[in-house]
Amino acid sequence: MLSTNPHAFEVTVSAPVNIAVVKYWGKRDTSLLLPTNSSLSLTLSQDDLRSTTTVRADPSFERDRLWLNGKEEDVTKNKRMVNVVRELRALRQRMEQDDASLEKLSAQKLHVCSQNNFPTAAGLASSASGFAALTFGIAHAIGVADKVSRSDLSRLARLGSGSACRSLFGGFVAWEMGSRPDGVDSVAVQVADESHWPDMEALVLVASDARKDTPSTAGMQLTVETSELLQERIRQVPQRMQDMKQAIANKDYDAFAELTMMDSNQFHAVCLDTFPPITYLNDVSRAVIHLITAYNALFTGDGRSGRGKKGYRAAYTFDAGPNAVLYILKEHVPEVLALVNRFFPPPEGEGERKEYFGRAANFMGSEN
Ligand code: ADP
Ligand code: DP6
Ligand code: CO
Repeated sequence: MLSTNPHAFEVTVSAPVNIAVVKYWGKRDTSLLLPTNSSLSLTLSQDDLRSTTTVRADPSFERDRLWLNGKEEDVTKNKRMVNVVRELRALRQRMEQDDASLEKLSAQKLHVCSQNNFPTAAGLASSASGFAALTFGIAHAIGVADKVSRSDLSRLARLGSGSACRSLFGGFVAWEMGSRPDGVDSVAVQVADESHWPDMEALVLVASDARKDTPSTAGMQLTVETSELLQERIRQVPQRMQDMKQAIANKDYDAFAELTMMDSNQFHAVCLDTFPPITYLNDVSRAVIHLITAYNALFTGDGRSGRGKKGYRAAYTFDAGPNAVLYILKEHVPEVLALVNRFFPPPEGEGERKEYFGRAANFMGSEN
């Protein structure tokens, strides 16, 4: 608490990103943010990629305001934030009605100030960590955080950005699409906690830190409207979810790697099937795919990386942007890092990259 006004309250929270291995892409309800398929992700360590958000509730504030990475945003245009704030205030209002002695925090305006320690809107899930932190922070600032479950907070974060509902949990997290029109069964659930597969690491390779041309929300809506291939994907995802959960339960890296890469490829195929097409991958992304494919082929028996092979060393996945995330077992991280440094040398004077575990290694300065 840092305040000159005894009725003001300020809190700072942070939330990690999550990177999906079965991707969410498509909404069946654009106001409740209900997806057309279930998805599954790994939540990265907060020490690495995170959003840090300070929320201040103060009786002297006249309106809600938001600063993102030091720049003020127009909250009235940010319907997602307005929705999250409205729902949280409604929760607080109910508490205040039940207990008249409670301070009327539901009436106080909020100032929200958030900073991402990695590129924003570049396909590294800033909306996931951003809305997870925003929801968690506001819930604390207006005194509802202790009164609602993590699952309820996750449902509220979903109203900000679909992928954000998964960042309220650590480890391996499924977002089950649900079937109810009101969305109460569209919730994130932890499939396995962070201690389940400690050898699993994420290497984040930043090919470009530029904001993407097509934000995820607009891109997936266009896909829903124009892509027939999406319908086939929607048909396939339930099986993939089941296979992925099994691979995680068995710590079966070969199955995990194969499913992860196939799902990423299918997601980007669906983007290309959108009309007009959406291209999130760039030349660097494609070079990473080829490098990892050739590298895996050295270990998968007959020099090919076909389906059902054993011996995979690295799995790539790309969100809605050109930046790669590689899921790798700890023992193979040094070799993969050496490979990346050899084929994508760091810019002059920056020296060898040594960071990896879920870190945004500054991969290449190239633009899309
Ligand atoms: P990404 O691939 O980074 O998730 P999206 O297109 O899904 O990109 O979302 C980017 C948008 O998410 C930003 O333009 C902003 O509106 C919102 N966002 C990102 N970071 C934050 C944050 N820390 N706090 C609040 N909103 C955020
Ligand atoms: C490719 O959650 O960013 O990263 O719900 O419209 O905010 P909105 O979209 P968003 O979409 C994420 C798409 C993805 C895949 C994933 O994270 O599952
Ligand atoms: Co996003």
